[in-house]
Amino acid sequence: MELKQAVGIKAAEYIKDGMIVGLGTGSTAYYFVEEIGRRMKEEGLQIVGVTTSNRTQQQAEGLGIPLKSVDDVERIDVTVDGADEISDDFQGIKGGGGAHLYEKIVADASERVIWIVDESKMVTKLGAFPLPVEVVKYGSKQVFKRLEEKGYHPVFRTQEDQTLYLTDEGNYIIDLHLGVIENPVAMGAELDQMVGVVEHGLFLNRVHTVLIGTSDGVITKEANR
Ligand code: A5P
Repeated sequence: MELKQAVGIKAAEYIKDGMIVGLGTGSTAYYFVEEIGRRMKEEGLQIVGVTTSNRTQQQAEGLGIPLKSVDDVERIDVTVDGADEISDDFQGIKGGGGAHLYEKIVADASERVIWIVDESKMVTKLGAFPLPVEVVKYGSKQVFKRLEEKGYHPVFRTQEDQTLYLTDEGNYIIDLHLGVIENPVAMGAELDQMVGVVEHGLFLNRVHTVLIGTSDGVITKEANR
């Protein structure tokens, strides 16, 4: 079994009857959502899902998982999502799939956040993975210029046909090729301050549990928050 599938299935063990569950986005979260669908069908599990992208919404609807908008729930019990990089101190980069805005909103409405990754995502320091920054269309070239001047090596994300990638919210993404992020908190704060930036992919102090798929099995790490 693929490592991503193994962690996806393992994460579904955390889900109990009656829970409101945040459903992440990406190729690892995909397996989690599939397993939830299977458990509902075969074991009678009853949950309500809150999705983090149009893609996941389509998948969940196809599996018959009842859904609610994040605005229609008081709290989410558990959210299970993937990540692009996780450092030793449990900080993360997300948004490789372009969904980090909705993912962060759902994560912040959750009592518990579980990230599921294969071992290739675990790093000492963040930054080798390009940091996604979602920006509004208006003035996006100005934001790009400022990021360039700061030496952040920005690149507008494009689709296969070379047109600019659009998020579910209709914004652009600028990926920052930083190599290493020595101070993720300072970097996050700087991006938070920039006009035109909707949300960046640094997820700081947000995860409670990390499940890592390795060739020797799934390893669980608790962030002790
Ligand atoms: C979606 O925008 C992302 O945040 C994903 O959660 C992240 O990129 C992990 O995706 P994979 O599981 O496909 O690597």
